[in-house]
Formats: sequence, structure tokens, C-alpha cells
Amino acid sequence: MSQCQLTKFSGGYPLDKFIIEGGVRLKGVVEISGAKNAALPILAATLLTDEKSVIKNVPPLRDVYTMLRILRNMGVRADMEDGVCVVHPNGYNNYIAPYKLVSTMRASVCVLGPLLAKLKHAEVSMPGGCVIGPRPIDLHIKGLKALGADLKVEHGYIIADAKNLTGGRVYLGGKFGSSVLATANVMMAATLARGKTVIENAACEPEVCDLADFLVKMGAKIKGQRTPILEIEGVKSLHGVEYSIINDRIEAGTFMVASAITGGDVLIKGANIEHLGAVIDKLKDVGVKITSTKDGIRVVKTGFIKPVDVTTLSYPGFPTDMQAQMMALMCITKGISVITEKIYPERFMHISELARMGAHIILEGSSAIVKGVSKLSAAPVMASDLRASAGLVLAALVAKGKTEISRIYHLDRGYHNIEEKLEKLGVKIKREKED
Ligand code: UD1
Repeated sequence: MSQCQLTKFSGGYPLDKFIIEGGVRLKGVVEISGAKNAALPILAATLLTDEKSVIKNVPPLRDVYTMLRILRNMGVRADMEDGVCVVHPNGYNNYIAPYKLVSTMRASVCVLGPLLAKLKHAEVSMPGGCVIGPRPIDLHIKGLKALGADLKVEHGYIIADAKNLTGGRVYLGGKFGSSVLATANVMMAATLARGKTVIENAACEPEVCDLADFLVKMGAKIKGQRTPILEIEGVKSLHGVEYSIINDRIEAGTFMVASAITGGDVLIKGANIEHLGAVIDKLKDVGVKITSTKDGIRVVKTGFIKPVDVTTLSYPGFPTDMQAQMMALMCITKGISVITEKIYPERFMHISELARMGAHIILEGSSAIVKGVSKLSAAPVMASDLRASAGLVLAALVAKGKTEISRIYHLDRGYHNIEEKLEKLGVKIKREKED
């Protein structure tokens, strides 16, 4: 393993565990929440204006509350009730995103672009690595430098200055392709820069498009949304807006796999078929029946699960955030599947935990070779990161006996009310304090 070891630090969050009794065929309707990964940069984008914004369909998740704390720490009024965030920049003038907050959530780095554009100066703690592998920020820095900003790293902080941000042309691709949050940061900064910015190899993830739609509603001039070439013509100022964010495609994908793995019949209400092409394609190959309805996506599975090979890629490829869930499904196929990780080559912490449940997986570089077994058996396992935890929950749904998943604070960062939602579909699940 790299410098990124499995952390035992919960960031002050309670150490809860799930106890899941496997063997139930999921049946019913599950409603998908707003997308965390759209909510976070959109909340950061509210820093670009002096006016109040109202953001709806925000999932009440730990990461969202962290972002609200970061905004408040800057002097912004930011409140959330019933999935609605009201953000009033209130003439904020603190440009610091401190280590104690950034260290609990990497996505905090997306305040860098808006702060720089609005206050001309930003001090944002370096996010550091994490359990899914090293996570550099060179593309964020390259992109902001192309707009004329001066950036350096000192005492663990990115210190950024830009008297006059000026549009520029930048290719935002790295070793692993485009970057979601680097695209977000540069796009946000460019909205208030002088002149035109062109971002080549921009990320096209639906969450980036949602941010672009939000910015356009604020008065930004953006062309090329949903394509890898974004053109942003800077404007003098942006205004506050009311906006409703998209639903969470990863939560939807996770419930799709939950239905498939248990031989279930689940209507995933609010899932957007347009955001889930690669996941749907693989699930169809597995033998799952998928129908689009006016309310969402219905996922029905009977009979054996067929093995498939999966490679994670930038959107519209198969999402890395669905890799652990797909692996759980591949654990109980009749045959061999190869899962290759092209975004985070070290994102395989879940393998050793799945092995404790009887899975047969060999890691060869950044490919996991999964030999399906006829059944998994319940075991105590430990969640290591958000999506790995989701993979363990899915495995527990089909394991024989009661699986105990500890450190589920990871799961609470990204899945709203997951136990209530699973319970409603028939799962026997309990949350308890860890001993
Ligand atoms: C976002 C998502 C995360 C998802 C990831 C990839 C949010 C809040 N998080 O994270 O859930 O897993 O996209 O889809 O939206 N890279 C560099 N240099 C950089 C930035 C990234 O080399 O400056 C690399 C990364 O190490 C990784 C790849 O680019 O290999 C993609 O990462 P990126 O899209 O930036 O991930 P995030 O935006 O942090």
C-alpha cells in the first residue's frame, strides 16, 4: 500500500456500525436524494456573488455540513433546512479554508477558484492524500495559473493571489484524464476573469454540468457545457439565484446494484437514465432487466449473474465511484470478471474486507481479478472509504448470516438515510454504537 494507510481517525464522528442480515430479495421503491458531488461545488460557487442564493434538493450529509461550516468560517451566512440551503455571502472577507475542516473533506479545495475570483486572494489548506490513493492538485494549480494567478504552497496551505484574473487557454488533462474539481475550480474562477477562458479536456461529469448550469443562472457566460471544451467569457459580477440540484447518480447506481445482487425488483425513483449509461450497460450485460419509467429506473433480476469486465473511466465511462459496488456484484457471479481501475489505481481497500466474507479476488496492478463464488458468508468487516463501504453493504445483503460493518461514518458522508431506505426495501439492518 502507498503512503495512504487505512485511517483509524473518525474526524470526531461517532463510531457506529451496521448489522445487516443477508438473504432478503429487495422489493419496492427507493427515492434518490440530491447529488452530494453537485451540491459541494455549487455551494462553493455562492462565494462568487454578494447576493443571497437558495439551493434546493441538497442532501443533508456530513460533507455538505462540512462545506457549510467552511462557508460560515469565512463570514458567510449559510443555513440548511429540509434540503434547502440559504446562503448569504453577507460581505464575507475571510479567505481562509482551514486545515481542521479541509482535512475532513478533500472537496473543500473547490472554494479556491471562487475565493480567488471574488477576493483576489485565497488560503486553502492542502487536502493531502487519502485512503483511495494519492490525490494531487497540480491541475487545479495549472488551470488557475493560466488565468494569471500566482500560487504557492507554504506551511501546508495553497496561497493564491490574483490582482486581475485574465482569461486564458488551458489543457486540463493529467495522467488519469480530466479532473472534476479542477474543471470546477477553473470554470468558477473564469466566470469573473477579464476576457475569454478556454478549458480543453474539461470534465463532463453531470455534476460539472450542473455547476455550469448554476453559474449560467447566476449570469455567467459559458459555452460548450456537456462537452470537453468549455468557453467562458468573464463578466463583471454574478447575482444570487434559486436553483435545484440534480439527483445523485452514484446513490442511484448503488441501489441498482442492490436490486441486482439480491435478485430483487426495485424502482429507483428520481434516477436519471441519462447519467447512468455505463452502469446500465454493464448491468444489462450481467443479465439484469432495466426499464425506464416516468418516475425513474426499474431494476429486476432473476436467475444467475453473469461475469463482466469493467474499466473505470471519466464520464461517460464507468464511474470509479461505482467500482466497489460492481465488485461486490461480481463476487457472486458464475465465472471470472476483471475490474480495472483507471482513475484511482490504488482504490482497492475493499478487496481484503470482501475476502473476509469469502470472496475470491486477486489484485494484479490496477486490475482486480474476481472469481465468482456461490455464496458469501457474514463476517465483521471495516469500512475504509465512502464507496468501499457501499460495496461492503451490498455484499452483506447476500451474505449468509449477520455482517457487522464498522466505521460507517464513511458511508454517512455520502448516503442519506441509507438504513431507512434499505429497510423499506425489506433489508434487516440495524445501526449500533461500536464497542
Ligand atoms: C471527484 C469526485 C469523486 C470522484 C472523482 C473521480 C467530487 C466532490 N468528488 O473528485 O467522488 O471519485 O471526481 O470521478 O466531485 N488528478 C490529478 N491532478 C489533479 C487533480 C486530479 O492528477 O490536480 C487525478 C486524480 O488523482 C485522479 C483523476 O485525476 O486520478 C481524477 O480525479 P478528479 O476528477 O480530480 O477527482 P476529484 O475532482 O477530486
